[in-house]
Amino acid sequence: LQSSSAPSSRRSEVASSLRSNIEEFVRRAPDFYADLGIADLDEKHAKIVGAAYEQLKDLERASRNFRSWSAQSDMTVPGQLSWAGIKANGLSLSLAKYIYAKTLKRSAYEAVGASIADDIAVLKMVGGSDLLRENPVHLTPGARDFYFVEKTSVSTRWLRYLYLLRQIQAKELLPEAGLWVDVGSYYGGLQGLVRKYHPKVRMVLVDFHHQLCRSYVYLKTLYPDAEHVFPDQISAFQDLDSLPPGTIAYLPARSFDLISEHHADLVSNFFSLGEMRRSVFESYYSSRMFRSSSRSYIVNRVVSSPFFEGTYDSDISMLDYIRHGQRVLDFDIFPMHHYMLIERKVLGTTRLRNVSSPYFEMVATPSDEDRVTNNEK
Ligand SMILES: C[S@@+](CC[C@H](N)C(=O)[O-])C[C@H]1O[C@@H](n2cnc3c(N)ncnc32)[C@H](O)[C@@H]1O
Repeated sequence: LQSSSAPSSRRSEVASSLRSNIEEFVRRAPDFYADLGIADLDEKHAKIVGAAYEQLKDLERASRNFRSWSAQSDMTVPGQLSWAGIKANGLSLSLAKYIYAKTLKRSAYEAVGASIADDIAVLKMVGGSDLLRENPVHLTPGARDFYFVEKTSVSTRWLRYLYLLRQIQAKELLPEAGLWVDVGSYYGGLQGLVRKYHPKVRMVLVDFHHQLCRSYVYLKTLYPDAEHVFPDQISAFQDLDSLPPGTIAYLPARSFDLISEHHADLVSNFFSLGEMRRSVFESYYSSRMFRSSSRSYIVNRVVSSPFFEGTYDSDISMLDYIRHGQRVLDFDIFPMHHYMLIERKVLGTTRLRNVSSPYFEMVATPSDEDRVTNNEK
């Protein structure tokens, strides 16, 4: 969808189709407005879910900004003026952001540029140069935060998705029509990329309703002809094996039980389990889905809340992800955004700092005890 360069009649057609996609998703999700009732919801997500419900009252605005509702976005990009940026955000906002980034917050924005340069270098190091070139983020639905560099456009989050896609490919984590379950899939950016290169993969996105709604808007725009499975299609989730190739299915977090005893070719969680309270973490991580799926791919914090900076309302650490008997195929520091410096107040002073904990990346297979045998399939 090249909405930023489309004439105004085309733009209003696009806006109305985004609005009707939101309405359709809400209609097909019986418990859409019940996520604040999820037991043990952590503070960060209770706020985000509440704010998203508020934002949905203005459907016009929610559809325009569907990629950056409620304190979540494609993450900061360096100050830059471009036609595409002006078309997506308007002249005054683009100019104001540019001046802010070049004057008052110059060093903070230079640090963002340096981090993006490092991320690009890592992506190239793992063989992702073609993916970088083939996927300019400003041409994807709803993109508003982007930065032109290296004859393409990127954002911090988009570079994360390109890296994850590259790893999924290089480590052959998904068979041709394999089943992939991702918990915490946000607006579906990674799913959109995986679908482009692996059109037969069957994917299940697990998240809060408002995030699934954003994913539906995003993925339906990209793949209007795909089979999209809504939360009210319970029987499809009860029989995951019979999902047709290329299916994109949206499962609300509160209904994870429907699939928790199944297994997949790949189960993943990126930047999410480590933000949950222990009971919620356990409801996912102890499930058969996480224990028995052929591969698990996890990127999370070494320590969710270090003692000197209580970042998340969670006491999870890297130790909680290690299972007895599990075979760890890869374990390392997650390299993307690793050198990022963010201006923030910690211990009474404000300055540029790294995040309170690094992130680890782990690919594993089940223990012998948890492995699913052919007879059980
Ligand atoms: C920091 S974002 C990361 C998003 C995405 N995986 C990425 O790497 O860009 C955390 C995601 O986890 C989701 N999330 C948080 N708590 C959750 C829960 N209890 N069940 C399912 N998803 C959850 C959030 O809604 C959000 O989409």
